[in-house]
Amino acid sequence: MKRPTAARVVIHLHSNPSIKFPHTRPRRLRLRESVRDLVAETLLTPSKLILPVFVSDRVSKPAPIESIPNHYYYPPQSRELVEFIQKALELRIGGFLLFGTPLHKDSRASSAYSSNGVVQRAVKHIRRELGFEPTVFTDLCICSYTDHGHCGLVRYEGGRATVDNDSTLEVYRAIAVSHAEAGADFVAPSGMMDGQVRAIREALDNQGFTDVGIMSYSAKFASSFYGPFRAAMDSAPRFGDRRSYQMDPRNAAEALKEVLMDVEEGADIVMVKPALAYLDIVRMVKEALPYTPLAVYNVSGEYMAVELLSRAGYIDRRSAVLEILTSIFRAGADMIITYHALEAASTR
Ligand code: PBG
Repeated sequence: MKRPTAARVVIHLHSNPSIKFPHTRPRRLRLRESVRDLVAETLLTPSKLILPVFVSDRVSKPAPIESIPNHYYYPPQSRELVEFIQKALELRIGGFLLFGTPLHKDSRASSAYSSNGVVQRAVKHIRRELGFEPTVFTDLCICSYTDHGHCGLVRYEGGRATVDNDSTLEVYRAIAVSHAEAGADFVAPSGMMDGQVRAIREALDNQGFTDVGIMSYSAKFASSFYGPFRAAMDSAPRFGDRRSYQMDPRNAAEALKEVLMDVEEGADIVMVKPALAYLDIVRMVKEALPYTPLAVYNVSGEYMAVELLSRAGYIDRRSAVLEILTSIFRAGADMIITYHALEAASTR
């Protein structure tokens, strides 16, 4: 059964001229809040939100992230990290996506797959303190672990640098297994290497982690809106850009191809990223694959835009946040990764 969405109904009416709008007054359905709620087609609930969590070996106590206001770097084994997650669980937040900043960077991202790495220690600590209650996703990217800031290993040939696909897959496999060993529920490959889902699925299965899932950043676009995140993670590429692996914003059909390939390779959840400039992609993916859970990443630049507008006094922050999240769900998202998760979940 296809899920009814507003657009589906609209498309149906347009394509079927025998259906006439009844002679009525739509405003009757808008006169009272309870009726507006009854006829609402999209519901916002905290259990559909995933909260990004930053753990860092560069801090000894929680430290504010300058480029992502209201968010903090937590030491991986701190009481404050546990309390932060506990507070979110009380608000019924659905999941947590962990990002790590290591002390040591090198060309092979070796801190990323160490069993003693920053994310691995954080996940073990969360499991020790909170058991299996929090659903933990871990980002698999290596851009904050490589000294060159790219999401894959760099190969130099005749003075030309390229991000090498297949050697990177070996690193991703090792990271995925180390995150699963630490206790992650889902690993989230965000590097946009070809075949990354298949490689990771195979590595997890070989090690017996058949219950660990994959949320793939399937259609991740080369976007300007990652700026605040890169500043936070110290992960901007030191040379070149990410356009040889992240998607070209001009392409929609190709996004669908990326998603279909990831599903075929074994992704449990697919993703479109960023959100707001890509709602057409969200809708298209949901219509093409109504049975595949779809995550949408409301990224750091989108968050910061709201922050700056509200600081300037031009918008009411809470209603803007709810409007944005609602629009992403209306487009077809099943879940949203958002820095607004806590404020959206708290009732004011
Ligand atoms: C790592 C990664 C990025 C984001 C999530 N994982 C940055 C990038 O690709 O440069 C962006 C998240 C955000 O902007 O909120 N590859």
